[in-house]
Amino acid sequence: MAGHDLRTALITGASAGIGAAVATLLARHGVHVVLVARREHELRRVADAIVTGGGRATWRALDVSDPIAVTAAVRRIDDEVGGLDLVVANAGIATQRHSAKLQWDDCATMLGVNVIGATATLVAAIPAMVERGRGHLVGVSSLAAYRGLPTLAVYSASKAYLSAMLEGMRVDLAPRGITVTDVRPGYVRTAMNEGADKLPMELQPEQAAQEIVDAIIAKRAVHAFPLPIALAMRSAAALPRGLWTAFARRAM
Ligand SMILES: NC(=O)c1ccc[n+]([C@@H]2O[C@H](COP(=O)([O-])OP(=O)(O)OC[C@H]3O[C@@H](n4cnc5c(N)ncnc54)[C@H](OP(=O)(O)O)[C@@H]3O)[C@@H](O)[C@H]2O)c1
Repeated sequence: MAGHDLRTALITGASAGIGAAVATLLARHGVHVVLVARREHELRRVADAIVTGGGRATWRALDVSDPIAVTAAVRRIDDEVGGLDLVVANAGIATQRHSAKLQWDDCATMLGVNVIGATATLVAAIPAMVERGRGHLVGVSSLAAYRGLPTLAVYSASKAYLSAMLEGMRVDLAPRGITVTDVRPGYVRTAMNEGADKLPMELQPEQAAQEIVDAIIAKRAVHAFPLPIALAMRSAAALPRGLWTAFARRAM
């Protein structure tokens, strides 16, 4: 990871899966990482492993679906570490359910973490970054953002929201010296896919973390991976609605 200028980073959803792997990789390259999630025991386990490996890690237990708590915590952490260079809104959940059986509780939980949590995390970091004239915001969206997916309607909508928000922020914030990166992974073998059979072109969390950290260092606007599925989803996004509906009904 040559040539990066990151000293500090906050990563949400860093107690497990992709977030823990991203935090571990950033720490390996000298970044002081602050891990955020709800489960203290898991946060401590990830942070201890980073410190044992020679890195710098601290953690804060937090439910990101509480926007007031998130705003206060991000600002406090920014002060504590002497300014956050990088904020990665990674915490997310996916409940797979046919739309005929959707329950509001599932929707509320997903929207609370994927929409409210990600928005509150990134928005809280902006004022201090604007003041410093530098910073990097990252949202972990998904290839599911490209189209409304069957059995994942609310999840794919939450990720489409995140990607659109990041695009708008990028336009606003580039003149203020702030980089905005939209990361869209395909299948990654984490608790989110627990129990699923082998998934198409699935990656391990460490492989996904490598893609994400490389995209951050390269200051990419959007990074969708792995490439073959990313290309397929980009093509799907260009399909007329009727064709997509017919295709998705048959394929999924
Ligand atoms: N896995 C995939 O195939 C895949 C594909 C595309 C995109 N993504 C995206 O990648 C991100 C990470 O997913 P993952 O696969 O690594 O899932 P994961 O292993 O289930 O990890 C989810 C992380 O989010 C945290 N989290 C959940 N609810 C939270 C809340 N209310 N407040 C704070 N933290 C919360 C969890 O920690 P606690 O439980 O300790 O709070 C955990 O650290 C998500 O945004 C997901 O949508 C995943």
